[in-house]
Amino acid sequence: MAIQWFPGHMHLTRKAIAERIKDIDVVIELLDARLPGSSANPMLAELTKGKPALKVLNKQDLADPERTALWLAHYNAQEGVRAIPLDASNTAPAKALIAACHELAPNRRGLAKPMRVLICGIPNVGKSTLINTLKGKRAAKTGDEAGVTKMEQRITIADDFYLYDTPGVLWPKIIVAKTGYNLAASGAVGRNAFDEEEVALEMLDYLRQSYAPLLEARYKLQGVASMTDEQLLDALGRKRGALQSGGKVNLQKAAEIAIMDFRANSLGRITLETPSEFAQWLAEGQQLDAERQLRKEALAEAKLIRVKKKPAPKV
Ligand code: G4P
Repeated sequence: MAIQWFPGHMHLTRKAIAERIKDIDVVIELLDARLPGSSANPMLAELTKGKPALKVLNKQDLADPERTALWLAHYNAQEGVRAIPLDASNTAPAKALIAACHELAPNRRGLAKPMRVLICGIPNVGKSTLINTLKGKRAAKTGDEAGVTKMEQRITIADDFYLYDTPGVLWPKIIVAKTGYNLAASGAVGRNAFDEEEVALEMLDYLRQSYAPLLEARYKLQGVASMTDEQLLDALGRKRGALQSGGKVNLQKAAEIAIMDFRANSLGRITLETPSEFAQWLAEGQQLDAERQLRKEALAEAKLIRVKKKPAPKV
């Protein structure tokens, strides 16, 4: 099953970004440091027309620090891109954001040429938390200022630094199955849009290969790396008392426990993808998507061929 989820207001967000982008100097994309590739939105690059980009690896307190370093290096090696780690324990994030944006757009300084920044991110990535921290005492919701739509807020972070927040949600089309699973595991996807057991099995399959010692410590298990994902779900369910009548493991309950443990950081600091793994998943996903597209086109063509010609009009 590939997870597809369509939160509301997507068209509104696209429109707002398209309208705002011409006056923007830097686009900040908030990513979940536990799944930077999966929480990115490919549509954003297209919408923001190659503007300088600051990737903020947010919730870094939950992510594996070694892998965060890999992701930062991956982004910082790209032209017109900077990346910084962040989390909500940083009560003064403005300094780091301002410094990174100035590196990306050095000519935007002073009241005559203020820095204008747009902030985007998928749901649950921590955008409201960050914006509220940034607002602090300088809170400035300038909804009635000319050019600022009612739905958009402008936050004045410094006298010459404005941050624009966009309404609604921009959600990627999921062409990489693993991306859907990782987003669901992280809590970014609505609960009704995925099957917990399937998501937990995918997550455990990855974790047993990359983070076996953390699973062993949390669930007091041994030999996790050589278990199948089903065996692991069953074993952790048994250890955590997720049982149903007859002593069988309640797999739904066990799956919920595994997902909650991951979200709450009870397993330890984990990142569900490295840059090279993600690149490989993406290449596979793009190939499958291209094949799907070709099949669709072939079907459409076949249909056209089968369409009966109208009888010639009687004379
Ligand atoms: P959003 O606007 O992007 O949708 O996200 P929001 O700020 O509402 O944050 C979503 C959840 O993530 C919140 O938890 C928030 O406390 C948490 N969060 C935000 N930034 C960080 C961070 O840097 N580190 C950690 N560990 N957590 C962070 P919540 O209110 O409990 O919501 P939920 O988890 O029940 O969805």
